[in-house]
Amino acid sequence: MSDMRSDIESVILDQETISQIVRRMGAEISRDYDGKDLVLIAVLRGAVVFMGDLMRAIDVPVSIDFMAVSSYGAAAKSSGIVRIVKDLDIDIKDRHVLIVEDILDSGLTLKYLMKNLSSRHPASLEVATFLWKDVEGKQAAINPKYVGTHVPDAFVVGYGLDFAEHYRNLPYVGILKPEVYS
Ligand code: IMP
Ligand code: MG
Repeated sequence: MSDMRSDIESVILDQETISQIVRRMGAEISRDYDGKDLVLIAVLRGAVVFMGDLMRAIDVPVSIDFMAVSSYGAAAKSSGIVRIVKDLDIDIKDRHVLIVEDILDSGLTLKYLMKNLSSRHPASLEVATFLWKDVEGKQAAINPKYVGTHVPDAFVVGYGLDFAEHYRNLPYVGILKPEVYS
């Protein structure tokens, strides 16, 4: 059996830390959307683990749906040119939509998605991202309303995040050893 853990340089968020972050975000969202018709939309596949935890940390009624997008070009960096591979099943018109993402880097993927979703006339449209890879001097293309925590400019995996479809099932977030992907 190959050892996923030996490919991890360091663990940056352990399970307890993750659960504290998610509980805090769930409380913020529950407070802000009390009495509103909230739809959580997770972006497949990375956001699936976060979505599962976040929805259970929210104590107001929610609907959930999923979208899958694929970006053209190199896998590691986002081009902002996005193709919708799986669209929503539900109609978001006049509903309060919260996009649930695993990690925000350039923000180009989400910028495209927000433009696309806003053309369907939701009552509101915001982003909840578990991680924000914000680097000094670098500006993301969108401004997320809810942020779990900030991560350094390294390639991170686990808790849904992958490298070449691996490591998503690690229960923590770790920095991948550069020799694994270079
Ligand atoms: P953006 O369009 O540059 O914000 O890229 C966001 C997407 O790139 C995320 O949804 C992830 O799928 C992927 N991504 C960016 N950084 C990482 C990382 O460190 N690990 C795993 N996936 C990442
Ligand atoms: Mg992704």
